[in-house]
Amino acid sequence: MTDHLRNLNKKRLEELQNNVLKDVAGSLGLIMAYMGDRLGLYTALVEISPVSSKDLAECTGLNERYVREWLSANAAAGYVDYDPLSEKFSLSPEQAVIFAAERHPDCMQGFFQIVVSAYRDEPKVSEAFRTGQGLPWSDHSGCLFCGTERFFRPMYAANLIDAWIPALEGVREKLEAGARVADIGCGHGSSTILMAQAFPKSTIHGFDFHRPSIEHARSRASDAGVAGNTVFEVVAAKEFPGGSYDLVTIFDALHDMGDPVGAAAHVLSSLSDGGTFMVVEPFAGDSLEENLHPLGQIYYSLSTMICTPASKAQEVGLALGAQAGEKRLTEVLREAGFKRIRRVAETPSNIVLEARA
Ligand SMILES: C[S@@+](CC[C@H](N)C(=O)[O-])C[C@H]1O[C@@H](n2cnc3c(N)ncnc32)[C@H](O)[C@@H]1O
Repeated sequence: MTDHLRNLNKKRLEELQNNVLKDVAGSLGLIMAYMGDRLGLYTALVEISPVSSKDLAECTGLNERYVREWLSANAAAGYVDYDPLSEKFSLSPEQAVIFAAERHPDCMQGFFQIVVSAYRDEPKVSEAFRTGQGLPWSDHSGCLFCGTERFFRPMYAANLIDAWIPALEGVREKLEAGARVADIGCGHGSSTILMAQAFPKSTIHGFDFHRPSIEHARSRASDAGVAGNTVFEVVAAKEFPGGSYDLVTIFDALHDMGDPVGAAAHVLSSLSDGGTFMVVEPFAGDSLEENLHPLGQIYYSLSTMICTPASKAQEVGLALGAQAGEKRLTEVLREAGFKRIRRVAETPSNIVLEARA
């Protein structure tokens, strides 16, 4: 170690220290934000800003001393505003969007839930590093499933019906007329329900091997008034039933599968003549060096904690990772037998591929 430190560059050390310090502050800010969501503090702030810690505590039924410390941490992070003259705290419209605007595409609370689940599950993942075994999706703490739905749903709501489906050749027309759709690895069913709402003449099947997620999806669909044209079933991606689907979709789940090639081959065999496979995956460049930025850091980290162990827990255990990139995904689809593959859309966080026989 002493030898290794001989060439220590003080300036570079200071830069790294500053960066890591920001990360430490961010990791603690995130837990403050998560608690503020669970305890209803941000929604109360939206209602009654500007407010003293005493009044906020009273309105939320929480202990004033804890609330004051939490508010101070939030003010230091820039998550809430503080006016020293009145000693009151408030939430600007921008802060309200990030921390309190449920269903807004820029609300980040679902993201925070996912990160908190990663912290909770760290001992299991560290053990997996030692054994080389996987960690099944079902063995993660519950806030992963809720956070995933909460984080992804607004993005799908903003893009799926108005941008992604219209970008697929001839698919919107089929769905409007009445088509059969399968949504594989549908989780809590946010994409399934969006398609069922937009295309009432079509039947949308949601498949996932995680029973609690399917049960949740079913009740969500019923609340959303689309129980009549949705069918949810607990089944693995390589075994979903039926055939002649006009459209099969996989949202942010292909890379989580142990055998994505096998799953895609099963999709191919279940498509109708002229049917389409739509794959939505995290945005990524094709090489590691293209992904060395904050979004890449986030995806690789979540992939270390969630996606890679989820895939390694299944047969084959290909472990594509959440930053596979278009080139690798295309190879997987080609290996499964798809011939015509193209990128049809992208957002800062997703790429959308269309695959056909
Ligand atoms: C990151 S979540 C995405 C869920 C949902 N598509 C969404 O975007 O909100 C990945 C999902 O894939 C499912 N999954 C992973 N491997 C699977 C497999 N082999 N068969 C069926 N579902 C699978 C998990 O249970 C989980 O619900």
